Amino acid sequence: MAKRRPSSGRWLREHHTDPFVLRARREGYRSRAAFKLLEIASYPFGGTPGRLLGPGMTVVDLGSAPGGWSQVAAEMVGGQGRVVAMDLLAMPPLEGVIFIQGDFLGEVGLRSLGEAIQPRRTVDVVLSDMAPNMTGIALADQTRGESLAEAAHEFACQTLELGGTLVVKLFHGPGFHETVRRARMDFTRVKVIKPQASRDRSAEQYLVGVGFRGVSSS
Ligand SMILES: C[S@@+](CC[C@H](N)C(=O)[O-])C[C@H]1O[C@@H](n2cnc3c(N)ncnc32)[C@H](O)[C@@H]1O
Repeated sequence: MAKRRPSSGRWLREHHTDPFVLRARREGYRSRAAFKLLEIASYPFGGTPGRLLGPGMTVVDLGSAPGGWSQVAAEMVGGQGRVVAMDLLAMPPLEGVIFIQGDFLGEVGLRSLGEAIQPRRTVDVVLSDMAPNMTGIALADQTRGESLAEAAHEFACQTLELGGTLVVKLFHGPGFHETVRRARMDFTRVKVIKPQASRDRSAEQYLVGVGFRGVSSS
């Protein structure tokens, strides 16, 4: 997650009164981000609400620390399912989650992820909430965010089962429309969502692609 200076008074004040932060504490989630995935997963894709993450599924969670999305995914896939999570940062253990600390953009990280998914070679859902450390320089931040989203899309196209799902964080920037266009080629249904827990001032949105077609545009 982006580092905050301790002197960032406005952020601290907002953080301690933020309804999603308070709810996360009450409900035992490690981050307010958990509510973004809970909302995304409750959308009626394909006509039936709550089918995005279900019992027995294998899920990859990219950019997982501190673990809110992994907690939600592990709850939803249950004991018969599997969650494989990866982050540059350390993440304390979570039941039902295999965690790999590594760089998703690096060869070693990708190889470890592939090994953790085995013996299956494919997964049902790829989640990516990856975000670069923000510099405050809008164009640079957008470009780095776009690279992460593009890499997650590519990984999904190589790893998803036919009919599988991708949820990926996007930053609204110059490459946004092209990313959505490409996703429409790879998935039968594509929706862009700004969950309520996503702060208004954040340029982030989430692309959800369901029904992986199995033929990559990349
Ligand atoms: C917004 S936070 C994720 C929050 C998380 N989904 C949750 O629910 O708690 C974004 C994360 O992306 C991670 N990240 C950024 N670039 C990455 C990379 N190349 N490989 C792995 N993780 C990365 C950051 O370290 C950070 O922890």
